[in-house]
Amino acid sequence: MSDEFDTFARDLQNQIYDETRRAYGEIAFERWLNPLFVGVMENADGYGRVTGSCGDTMEIFLKFQNDIVKEASFQTDGCGSSMICGSFAVEMALGKNPDELIEITGEKILEILQKFPKEDRHCAFLAADTLQEALNNYMIKGGS
Ligand code: FES
Repeated sequence: MSDEFDTFARDLQNQIYDETRRAYGEIAFERWLNPLFVGVMENADGYGRVTGSCGDTMEIFLKFQNDIVKEASFQTDGCGSSMICGSFAVEMALGKNPDELIEITGEKILEILQKFPKEDRHCAFLAADTLQEALNNYMIKGGS
C-alpha cells in the first residue's frame, strides 16, 4: 500500500516536473527548483519594493562597494515565476555599477530565460522594476 502510494507520488511529481520544464524551459525550470539569492538583507544600500498589477510584491536589496553591487538578494510573495525572475534580476545585478544596472530590463531577463510562458512575462517586468527602485533608492542616498 505504502509502496504503491510512493510510486504514485513519484510519478505525479515527475509529471509535474515534465510539464513545468516544457512550459518554462530548462533555464527557468532549474532556477525554480533551486532559487538563488532569496532573503532579506539588513542595512542594504539600495532597497526596492514594488507591487505589480497582479497584486504580488517583490523586494530587492543591494549592497554596494565602490559603486559596484557586491551583494544582492530578493524576496517575493508572488508566484513561482516571480521567484525565478527575481532570482535572475539579482544575479544580473551582481558586479554591476549604476549605469549598467539601468540596462537591466524585463526584456533582458526574458532574453536570459529564453523560453517563458506569455502569461507570466509580466513577472520579469516586476523584477526589473523592483531592481530599478532599489537602484533609485541607492542613488537618492548619494551612492556609496
Ligand atoms: Fe504576479 Fe508573477 S503573477 S509576479
